[in-house]
Amino acid sequence: MAEPYQQYIGGEWTDGEGTETFTSINPATGEQVGEFHRGTPADAKRAVAAAEEAFEEWRSLSRIDRAEYLWDVYHELRDRHEELGEIVTRECGKEISEGKADVTEAWHMVEWAAGDARHPKGDVVPSEVASKDAYMRRKPRGVVGCITPWNFPVAIPFWQMAVALVEGNTVVWKPAEQTPWCGQIIAEMMVDAGIPDGVFNLVQGYGETGAAIVDDDRVDTVLFTGSAEVGHEVATKAADQPGKRAACEMGGKNAVVITEEADLDIAVPSAVMSSFKTTGQRCVSSERLIVHTDIYEQFRERFVEIAERIAVGDPLDPETFMGPLIEADHVEKVTSYNELARSEGVEVLVDRTELDEAEIPDGHEDGHWVGPFVYEADPDEQLRCTSEEVFGPHVALLEYDGGIERAVELHNDADYGLAGAIISEEYRQLTYYRDHAEVGLAYANLPCIGAEVQLPFGGVKKSGNGYPSAREVIEAVTDRTAWTVNNSTEIEMAQGLSADIKTRDG
Ligand code: UN1
Repeated sequence: MAEPYQQYIGGEWTDGEGTETFTSINPATGEQVGEFHRGTPADAKRAVAAAEEAFEEWRSLSRIDRAEYLWDVYHELRDRHEELGEIVTRECGKEISEGKADVTEAWHMVEWAAGDARHPKGDVVPSEVASKDAYMRRKPRGVVGCITPWNFPVAIPFWQMAVALVEGNTVVWKPAEQTPWCGQIIAEMMVDAGIPDGVFNLVQGYGETGAAIVDDDRVDTVLFTGSAEVGHEVATKAADQPGKRAACEMGGKNAVVITEEADLDIAVPSAVMSSFKTTGQRCVSSERLIVHTDIYEQFRERFVEIAERIAVGDPLDPETFMGPLIEADHVEKVTSYNELARSEGVEVLVDRTELDEAEIPDGHEDGHWVGPFVYEADPDEQLRCTSEEVFGPHVALLEYDGGIERAVELHNDADYGLAGAIISEEYRQLTYYRDHAEVGLAYANLPCIGAEVQLPFGGVKKSGNGYPSAREVIEAVTDRTAWTVNNSTEIEMAQGLSADIKTRDG
């Protein structure tokens, strides 16, 4: 029996202070992928102390020198693409092209962050006073706590950590408890790259360990991507600690608007990809399709026909479109939302909640299977199934009549605002949607998933309060100094403020 995998704290692999272990399960087979020491709040604190101690030395390197460590990681991600893609698929159940895309997205982010180290930075700002120069400098904040989800177990850690490290912060990372193996592999890469002790720390485990990172007042910034429930807790706790910053990216109840001007050859595949890629488990997945009455019948027929037949199965098989859900509890959650929809009186069009036995591949009987669930609902009724995030292949068709204003009104009738799309050939509809849709990521004639790493990724409303990715994450992990230099031997103040020092005796 192999020893359980360890945590990486202060430059050492360690069991940590706890005595418990936990296992990672392949969601497609129910088989154990690995056993891991379960981190405790005390381990998180030790990791924060190590990160704090390593900070001064790390920040004293140039950005370019810090980025050098990440270039090693970049090459390793690329060289091991196939192998790592398979690991992602085996641990989180995404079908293999998505497993590999996760790794690709990770190296894109590392490339962005490490490449950015050589780009010009800052602003030169004019001064009212000719003899003054003013410009902006950025300083790293210190210790950054990173808390990442299981659905992008390689990409999202790098969204957060690559930029945090290049900017000169040290990192304490807790990966999702469902994907500790991906966490282990990323930690091994950091170690192989020779990253100095304490600069990068991995603690494995559950919510209490993540909470210990958020609560620790030595942590200057928390970057969080995950559920709205936890994200709001993180944001609230951070707001309670003066000076702490949190950038949180949470879920959505995202929608695709399909107007009467849509090309159905774009609308149908866009809707299918938005709703069913990653088995609906992207925070940008769409659970609402808002379709104009003039094309509703046609769209419904084509969408339903695909939803009935979409290939659910072994995620390692390249012919599969949808792998399993992440875990048994999640099957229960999605199933109960499907039941809730029925009890709320919707018209069910496709119900593959329980797959036919014949659909489940041999050796995969213990996988966490569900298929598509598609229904029609009245867009004017306030239903839980059309307003709460399910995070699965659970999708409502909402028929509307009227102009683009009406479609966007329905689109915005959600507490969340992460991603959305419009399918239309009419540019006025597109621009109306662009300007009025309440989302952080908006697409025209595309699915509402698949953002590239160099875009700001984050939402509005209940979906988040910051951008834990690329250029925008720099704001969260650095402080700016407005630096003004006087080049004259006299002091001259702005705003006409007198620089004369007046004394009683004149
Ligand atoms: C997520 O949905 O949890 O835009 C992240 C996308 C991916 C990232 C998704 N680049 O679909």
